[in-house]
Amino acid sequence: MSRTVRAYAITAEAVAREKDRVGGDVDKMDVANVIALDKLELRDMGPKDVHVRMLAVSGEHNVDHAALADTINIADARGGRIYPGNSALGEVIDVGERVDKFKAGDIVVTHCNGDPDQFGFPLRIWAYDQPESIGWYAEEAVVGDWQLIRAPLDSGLTLWEMAALPLRAPTAYHMWRRALGIYRLKVPREKQAVLNVLGFGGGVSELFLMLAKDEGHNAFFCSGSPDRRAALDKLGIVGIDQKKYNRFATKDDVNAFRKEVRDLTNGGDAHIVCDMLRGPVFPAGLAVAARQGVNTSAGWQLSQVVEYNSTVMSVKQVTLDHTHYETIEGCHAATELYGRVFKPTVHKEIYPFEDLGRCFEEMHQNIQTGIPIIRITDDLPDSVKGII
Ligand SMILES: NC(=O)c1ccc[n+]([C@@H]2O[C@H](COP(=O)([O-])OP(=O)(O)OC[C@H]3O[C@@H](n4cnc5c(N)ncnc54)[C@H](OP(=O)(O)O)[C@@H]3O)[C@@H](O)[C@H]2O)c1
Repeated sequence: MSRTVRAYAITAEAVAREKDRVGGDVDKMDVANVIALDKLELRDMGPKDVHVRMLAVSGEHNVDHAALADTINIADARGGRIYPGNSALGEVIDVGERVDKFKAGDIVVTHCNGDPDQFGFPLRIWAYDQPESIGWYAEEAVVGDWQLIRAPLDSGLTLWEMAALPLRAPTAYHMWRRALGIYRLKVPREKQAVLNVLGFGGGVSELFLMLAKDEGHNAFFCSGSPDRRAALDKLGIVGIDQKKYNRFATKDDVNAFRKEVRDLTNGGDAHIVCDMLRGPVFPAGLAVAARQGVNTSAGWQLSQVVEYNSTVMSVKQVTLDHTHYETIEGCHAATELYGRVFKPTVHKEIYPFEDLGRCFEEMHQNIQTGIPIIRITDDLPDSVKGII
């Protein structure tokens, strides 16, 4: 029997209307005017489906990209409307007859690998470019059992901290294991045990640095946010104020940043850099790369196109790595590290469901103190009441 729930949608018409309102200036767009509460009819349950009641979700940057249509106009490309949200935590309320991994009452997290290729990596992302995929910024959802992972309720994390991780932790996990693997192909452990690892602001970079720190490396977090630097400082991750270098507006700023990194690393520079932003951050990341270094990114928030001097990078033997999202097995492995390694910083306000649009506008303005969480319901099950 089908069921209608409240769910957020982004329509091509809302994107166009907001763009018109600001005369085409994407910087002036208000994301809260684009993402709107809608009604969604859930599909009938199939034998391998799970019916989930959403408890909390995290705000993800792909929604910002969808609302601004700054990468591609994804709502338009998908027929005029998408239901976004690909990072969620919920309670199982029913399972199909062939589901044996989950039962009613289980607390689960999602992954967003929408269409694994022959090696398991996503060709498309769920609730973004995977056709027909329906996202989870909704009261309830019907989800294939392959898209769910049991939430580790004994991880020591709060419900909100766990809700911060389903998308960002697998991304960071994939980037870290790849970047380290590439570096180790060039410089084995016997020649150098401890690496200098640097990440630029953002939730994925923070988690990437937690992996590096946990494995005994030196970790440096270059961010414009004092709150986020302070949170990482508590884990022994050294903060560098990005605003001190005017967000790398000029070559002099990049040179001054390069000098600070050289001093902090005792002349060693950064063996692994997590970028995620591109734009002016990209040349700054390359400037601090050590010989044999690796620069990895799964994001292009500040620009999609980069330029670099191939000769200089060849002579330094620097590798640029482009990643997207984890395999499904990798998502399971990343979930094992909740609380042990991943201790995310969560924005100080937990947003009510009705204020999801405001959450995204505040994310867009870059004024949040950590990963933003939206609470979908006040009616939490007893199993999580002790971890809120
Ligand atoms: N491919 C994937 O699977 C995947 C997964 C996750 C994310 N991503 C992409 O990666 C990017 C980052 O995502 P995230 O989740 O890590 O980010 P996030 O937690 O939302 O944080 C974004 C960060 O961007 C930084 N920033 C904002 N404006 C800036 C500017 N003008 N100059 C320099 N830094 C600026 C801020 O750092 P400060 O602290 O310095 O202000 C902020 O912390 C996004 O584009 C996202 O779509 C891709």
